[in-house]
Amino acid sequence: MKIDAILGLSLGDEGKGKICANLIQKNKYDYCLRFAGGANAGHTIYVNDKKVATHIIPTGAVFGVKSIIGPGCVLSPISFFQELKELSLINSEIEGIVRIAYNAHIVTSKHIEEEAIENKIGTTKRGIGPAYRDKYARTGIRAESIPELKPFIVDMYDEFSNNPNASILAEGAQGLGLDIDMGDYPFVTSSNCGIGGLLNNGFKHTDIRHIYGVVKAYTTYVGSKSFQNKSDPILDMIADLGAEFGTTTGRRRQINYFDIQNLIKSLTTTSVNTLIINKVDILQKIGCWKLIDKGVVVDCENEEKFKNRIISIASQYGVKEVIFSYSPNVI
Ligand code: IMP
Ligand code: MG
Repeated sequence: MKIDAILGLSLGDEGKGKICANLIQKNKYDYCLRFAGGANAGHTIYVNDKKVATHIIPTGAVFGVKSIIGPGCVLSPISFFQELKELSLINSEIEGIVRIAYNAHIVTSKHIEEEAIENKIGTTKRGIGPAYRDKYARTGIRAESIPELKPFIVDMYDEFSNNPNASILAEGAQGLGLDIDMGDYPFVTSSNCGIGGLLNNGFKHTDIRHIYGVVKAYTTYVGSKSFQNKSDPILDMIADLGAEFGTTTGRRRQINYFDIQNLIKSLTTTSVNTLIINKVDILQKIGCWKLIDKGVVVDCENEEKFKNRIISIASQYGVKEVIFSYSPNVI
């Protein structure tokens, strides 16, 4: 097995969808895989200049690559069929290539109702927490028991045992800062967003070929904790120029500068080969090259110094390649 993984190293919304769409068109993957989370994710991609959002269906499916929603995911059948309908306008053959692991767990309408009433941490209200709670309490429902999902069901272990040389693009959702174990609990999601979450879908660590870690040139967060310094007007300018509104819920994202300690933490806990820094153009437009180091805002003064600081940290932590990327262009 040859797995390339795209991981968010921050708090979600790093631009993983763009990287996924780019890699899937450049390399020939046999499969695209979502390994954790559910329709809380919102991946924005452009197909022939048309903006498309995927939530639970792996981005590869839009480009005709066989795509699996893995056992680590939770899935609401209603939103799955809704998304399938929307994406079939772009790829009419999508139904034939999307598969769901029989042991993925179901988000029920009860799970979603529960979050509509009680939701202290500002979740996406997609029933993610309650669905994972029931999974781990061993009272959950799995995809295999939903009759409407039968035509899509697959046993991932069988699929890959019969196909040991398959190449897979594993599309991460959320980011390491939202990881249930490593993130700022309780302001986290309910799954493991890193390589651990991927391996738990039934792979061995030596199957991992390449890890793409994705961040933005600044940090964004959606949820109920206070994250943005309200007295810094530049942060609002970044939000406006960067169009920082959630793909899934439309909420305005809170903004902060690029955080060096967060980068170090993600590179220490994950062996990233290629680091991608998205949306550098937003900082170019403002001409602001600030970042945060050990909680203190540092002004790097210009683009070159800003980039060199990131490159220097990345190389100290084993990254082989750093790519600075500019929206909406692809890398
Ligand atoms: P949940 O995953 O819906 O339970 O939400 C838990 C926290 O993770 C909230 O702060 C959400 O805003 C955040 N979150 C979940 N999915 C995403 C995502 O795809 N992008 C950004 N934030 C997310
Ligand atoms: Mg998103």
